[in-house]
Amino acid sequence: MPREKEESHKESKDASAPKEDLSASDVEIDELEGVGPATKEKLNNAGILTVMDLAVKSPSEIADAIGSDLARAVELSTKARTKLVELHYLEDDFVSASEIYKRRKAIDRISTGTKNLDDLLAGGIETQAVTEFYGEFGSGKTQICHTLCVMVQQPKEQGGLSGKVVYIDTENTFRPERIVGIAQARGYEPDAILNGIVVAKAYNSSHQELILGELGARVREFGVRLVIVDSAVAHYRAEFLGRGTLSERQQRLNKFMHALVRTAEIYNLAVVVTNQVQSSPDTFFGDPTKATGGHVVAHTSTYRVYVRKTGKNRVARMVDSPYHPERESLFILDERGIDDPQEESSTRRRSS
Ligand SMILES: Nc1ncnc2c1ncn2[C@@H]1O[C@H](COP(=O)(O)OP(=O)(O)OP(=O)(O)O)[C@@H](O)[C@H]1O
Ligand SMILES: [Mg+2]
Repeated sequence: MPREKEESHKESKDASAPKEDLSASDVEIDELEGVGPATKEKLNNAGILTVMDLAVKSPSEIADAIGSDLARAVELSTKARTKLVELHYLEDDFVSASEIYKRRKAIDRISTGTKNLDDLLAGGIETQAVTEFYGEFGSGKTQICHTLCVMVQQPKEQGGLSGKVVYIDTENTFRPERIVGIAQARGYEPDAILNGIVVAKAYNSSHQELILGELGARVREFGVRLVIVDSAVAHYRAEFLGRGTLSERQQRLNKFMHALVRTAEIYNLAVVVTNQVQSSPDTFFGDPTKATGGHVVAHTSTYRVYVRKTGKNRVARMVDSPYHPERESLFILDERGIDDPQEESSTRRRSS
């Protein structure tokens, strides 16, 4: 679809400008050409208040919200994206490699609270990306999520982003007392940390999708920099059993994952998802009918970290990253959530 561009925006374009300085989150949808009061009301009723909220939605969701055909919804979606490009929130369709490089240098990172995992992730969990931790039960995925809830709230000098958290809990495994324990072990005030976490319990896959749909308002009000979905696939796995329902499950999960990617990019926050898999990752990826949704997540996540148990320790491996070296790091589970092992030689293959 063609884009109308205003020259003045091109002149003032500065790709390295920090996104926080911009105010696209305040641009109401009726400032878009072609959005009248009736459309605005319908969008607002569906929780879509700003241009960012609109850009995050898929055209079919927009069509549902305003009761229009898909063409009208695509038009609105494109207008929202164009507006965000003008405001430098989103990249234009064609950008130079050096501009992308500049933008990537502006990406924020959240420390995992361990040196080893931070090294593995080239500095921590990135904003504007979806990072997936996958592995078998008890491998430490939920512990990683709990630790990140504490870390992201710290100031930048201490590895955080002074940001809040939305924790979408699909397995009923979020434990505030574990947060308190981790905060205390790390010398932080537990009450303040608890106040910085909004927990949304998702009772089924539709509810999980609904929660994500309503995230926009929370992000704005609350200053959210991290969204956790623990686990992203459990409900889909439980609800869509058998081969007959596989394609519907994959479609729904695919839609959910893409919405997460848009959320991360548009609101400039980090998304972390977990995914439980059986112990052999090779078999798992080799056979898509066994993947129970896993390969959809795999293809959509920006970064994938495979975690497994080895005795008392845990091993994390960066998988298929476009730029991280493929290597493994050790971590342990203790009162600080996740932690570096005591021994010196904890990283298997050190980067030079
Ligand atoms: N306070 C604690 N101190 C030390 N280890 C703990 C503590 N709490 C939990 N653990 C460890 O965390 C493990 C569970 O890890 P976690 O819940 O993160 O697994 P998971 O990968 O999320 O599993 P699942 O796929 O079943 O959700 C327990 O087996 C235990 O060893
Ligand atoms: Mg878990």
